[in-house]
Amino acid sequence: MNKNDSYDLVVKSPGRINLIGEHVDYNGGHALPAAIDKKITLKMKKNNSNNVTVYSKNIDSEFTFSLSDLNRSSIEWHNYIIGVIFYINVLRPDAVKGFDCYIDSNLPLGSGVSSSAALECGVAKGLNELFKLGLSDTEIIKLSKDAEHTMVGTKCGVMDQFTVVKGQKDHLLLLNCKTQEYKTIKVDFGDYKLILLNTNVSHNLASSEYNVRRGECEIAMKVINAKYNDLKYLCDVKPEVVKEFKNLLPEKIYNRALYTSKENQRTLKAVEAINCKDLHALGNLLYQSHEGLSKLYEVSCPELDFLVEYSKNYDQILGARMMGGGFGGCTINIIHKDFVENLIEEMSIAYRNQFSIDLTPIAIHIGDGVKI
Ligand code: GLA
Repeated sequence: MNKNDSYDLVVKSPGRINLIGEHVDYNGGHALPAAIDKKITLKMKKNNSNNVTVYSKNIDSEFTFSLSDLNRSSIEWHNYIIGVIFYINVLRPDAVKGFDCYIDSNLPLGSGVSSSAALECGVAKGLNELFKLGLSDTEIIKLSKDAEHTMVGTKCGVMDQFTVVKGQKDHLLLLNCKTQEYKTIKVDFGDYKLILLNTNVSHNLASSEYNVRRGECEIAMKVINAKYNDLKYLCDVKPEVVKEFKNLLPEKIYNRALYTSKENQRTLKAVEAINCKDLHALGNLLYQSHEGLSKLYEVSCPELDFLVEYSKNYDQILGARMMGGGFGGCTINIIHKDFVENLIEEMSIAYRNQFSIDLTPIAIHIGDGVKI
C-alpha cells in the first residue's frame, strides 16, 4: 500500500494530554485532559472485497484479515482495529465492508499520550463516514473503549476516547467521567508552556497493573459501601470519609482509595487555580498529584520520579507529574517559555547520567478532536 494511492477519505486522530485527574476516570471522578496537535493519520478506501488490509508506516508492517473472522490477533496493534470493527458490527451488523487503510503517525507509541485511543477512534470515525453508519460520538467513544477492554485487555476508563473525539483547540476539557458531561476551559498560561518529557521507558506491566489498580478500587468501594451504600464511585467518597476506613482496609487498598478521592478534589482545585490565573497553585497541585501517584497509587517508576524530583531544582518549572496510565511514558511540566530549551538540555544530561537513556521533549499545542 502506498500513501500516494488515492483514498476515499483521510482521518486525523489526535493524542491527548491530561493536566491533572489521573486514574480517576474509572472511579467516576473529574479529569482535565485535552487533545493535542500530534496525530495519527488514517487514509481509507473501500476495496469492494470482504477483506481489510491495514498498513502502518511507522512499524512498516501490513496485515490483512477477513471480515468473517474478527477474532483476537496475537499482535497487539491489530486488535485495536479488529476490536473496533467487532463492536461496530454489534451496533450496525454487516454494515462495514472491505477497506484498505494506510496509517502514518507522529504520535509517540507507549508514551502515555494515548496513541491507542487515537487509533481506535480514528478507525471508528473513518468507518462511520466511509460506510455512512450514522454512529453518534457517544457510540464511537463507547465502542472504542469496549474494543480496548475486550480485544486489548486494558480495562480503561473513558477519558482517552472521550478526549480524542471531543477535544477542542486551545481548550482543556473538565470532564465529569461519571456523567460524561464536560466544560471547556480556555488555556492561557501566559509566559508558561506545557512540555512533555518522554522517559522513553514503556514498562509492559502497564496493562496488567492497570487492571489490578482498578480491581483494588472496586474492593475499597465494596468495603465503604457496607457503611455508605448510597455512594457509587470512589470519587464520590470525600477524603475524610475514606480516612474512617483506615483500619478496616488493607494498607494498599486504603492508599489507593485515599489517592483517588484526593486526586478528584485536586482536579477541581486546579480549575479554580486556572480561573484565578494562579499558576503557582496549579503547579503545586501537579506535584501533589505526582506524589500520590508514586507513593499511594504506585503507578510511577524511577525514571518518572527522577524527572519530577529534578524539576523541583528550577523556579522556572512550576509543576510536573507523570501523565497517563504510568509505569513509564511522559511527565507533563509547566515551564517558563524563556527557559524551556536550557532546562530541557540540563535535564536531558542529568537523565542520561542517571539512566543511560535519552530524554525526548515534546512541545505540544492543544488541538481539536478527531477530524475527517
Ligand atoms: C490510561 C487509561 C485512561 C486513564 C489513564 C489514567 O490512559 O486509558 O482511561 O485511566 O490511564 O488516568
